[in-house]
Amino acid sequence: MPNTMKAVRIHGYGDSSVLVYEDAPLPQIGPDEVLIKITACAINPIDWKVRQGHGKERMPITFPFILGWDVSGTIAAIGSLVSHYNPGDKVFTRPNSSRNGGYAEYIAVRASEITAAPANISLPHLAGIPLAGQTAWAGLFEQGKLRRDQSVLIHGGSGGVGTFALQFAHHMGAHVITTTSAKNKDLVLSLGADEVIDYQAEDFSKKLKDIDLVFDTIGGDTQKRSWGIIKKGGTLVSTVGADEKAAAEYGITSKSFMVDSNGARLQQIAALADQGKLKVIVEKEFPLSEARAAHDLSEKGRAAGKIILLM
Ligand SMILES: NC(=O)c1ccc[n+]([C@@H]2O[C@H](COP(=O)([O-])OP(=O)(O)OC[C@H]3O[C@@H](n4cnc5c(N)ncnc54)[C@H](OP(=O)(O)O)[C@@H]3O)[C@@H](O)[C@H]2O)c1
Repeated sequence: MPNTMKAVRIHGYGDSSVLVYEDAPLPQIGPDEVLIKITACAINPIDWKVRQGHGKERMPITFPFILGWDVSGTIAAIGSLVSHYNPGDKVFTRPNSSRNGGYAEYIAVRASEITAAPANISLPHLAGIPLAGQTAWAGLFEQGKLRRDQSVLIHGGSGGVGTFALQFAHHMGAHVITTTSAKNKDLVLSLGADEVIDYQAEDFSKKLKDIDLVFDTIGGDTQKRSWGIIKKGGTLVSTVGADEKAAAEYGITSKSFMVDSNGARLQQIAALADQGKLKVIVEKEFPLSEARAAHDLSEKGRAAGKIILLM
């Protein structure tokens, strides 16, 4: 094993220029941990929000810090207490966000945080699943309690979270409506949308009513216009915070949540992939050394699916 590895680290908060491609120490593993040789790490909006310093009171970090919480790769070494995995196993994980992340050649994670790679999805694309996929799953089924006889409106169906939410809701058998722009219409239809509303051309709030569940990955005015189309007693689940006062006025349950890392949930998602029922949509892949460009692209908020760094 080398003593150092290539990584992209931040030494302070700021714009994408604080991302520095450089040598960093190889992570050391504890007895219950594994060292993963990373194949790919997906970008999520939380990465550049943390980089900018948002939520630094809630999630303090020590500089220099490695971002990235969506990892796939191969186990390079195991701790003395690890029994279920061996060097050479292909795995994916949403590692604990308080520790150094996946913009690097290697990462140390607890064995309880990793899941065996399913068939049917390449290792580089698998990195797109853990954070965004678990957010979609938790939002629809754990928070939103979506059932097969219900209607769901997914705002931002072409995004990292939305592309998974569409597939999960479709496989569950719900009636799936989504908002996106015209360029992504064919994509969202291919992922299981039954109805597509081009948010740039039409006002969804004038077309829809009595929706059981709105899954909101956009917020702001989109959320404001959503309350009136949800049936009384229905639910709005948001990944970006929900206006509880508005929800109470309309007689709607609102839920805002931060996804946790849950191996059992990731296993259920992996089972769908094993059955060939899950696609990872990738907007663009970048080499690790181009992490700045990858952040700039993500920050524009127009990516279809995931942006992935390759080691
Ligand atoms: N709470 C949590 O645990 C959690 C977890 C994951 C993500 N999040 C948050 O959830 C949000 C979404 O994450 P993400 O990874 O899905 O983001 P993303 O991949 O960057 O989303 C980009 C997508 O949003 C679509 N979009 C932009 N404006 C839209 C609008 N007004 N109406 C409908 N679609 C619109 C874009 O489609 P067009 O190009 O067609 O506009 C694009 O495909 C982020 O704020 C993220 O931080 C929270």
